[in-house]
Amino acid sequence: MALGCRRAMMADADLLWRWANDPLTRANSSSTAPIPYAEHLDWLRRRLGSETTEIWIFSDGGTPVGQVRFDRAGDVALTSISVASEHRGRGFGRAMLTEALPKVRERWGPAVRPKALVLDRNPASLALFRACGFRMVGRVERGLGRGAVVLEGTERMGFTKTTRSV
Ligand SMILES: CC(C)(COP(=O)(O)OP(=O)(O)OC[C@H]1O[C@@H](n2cnc3c(N)ncnc32)[C@H](O)[C@@H]1OP(=O)(O)O)[C@@H](O)C(=O)NCCC(=O)NCCS
Repeated sequence: MALGCRRAMMADADLLWRWANDPLTRANSSSTAPIPYAEHLDWLRRRLGSETTEIWIFSDGGTPVGQVRFDRAGDVALTSISVASEHRGRGFGRAMLTEALPKVRERWGPAVRPKALVLDRNPASLALFRACGFRMVGRVERGLGRGAVVLEGTERMGFTKTTRSV
């Protein structure tokens, strides 16, 4: 694995759209409907222009393999990750998240803590966040009868304690 990463840009719109509409990624998201391209372009333009969003594209030897996004809201940074379907199950998710987490601290400081909402029926994602040091802090309902676990980064990972919950 020769993992590299860079910030996303508008030229990544097609790639990010394809990944966002991957069936498993949609099924594991809060809104499961396919995303129309025009809507995606509007969304990406706004996200890339926002002080509260960071999107990182990861590549292996030049081949794009996945993305990590942080959306800051107050003292939490909601964390989303996806690996291209053909590259899953080979350690990319874990390697990407490990490399991306320090960027939260670099950008917003240690008081902004990464947080993730992971559906009960998403064992790969649960294993991934736990392997990267996140701990479970609660549960929420995500609609359509889907339960989710709330996980957050810890002091051991270099983040200071926060009291807010998503
Ligand atoms: C979740 C996702 C990012 C994981 O990426 P990945 O590259 O496949 O994961 P890795 O190979 O790095 O494995 C991470 C952990 O998950 C485990 N895992 C991987 N695939 C698994 C599967 N299908 N079922 C159960 N566990 C699995 C691995 O064993 C590993 O755990 P370990 O470190 O304790 O051994 C990827 O499956 C994905 O893109 N899914 C669709 C989008 C999504 O669900 N995103 C998360 C929303 S919260």
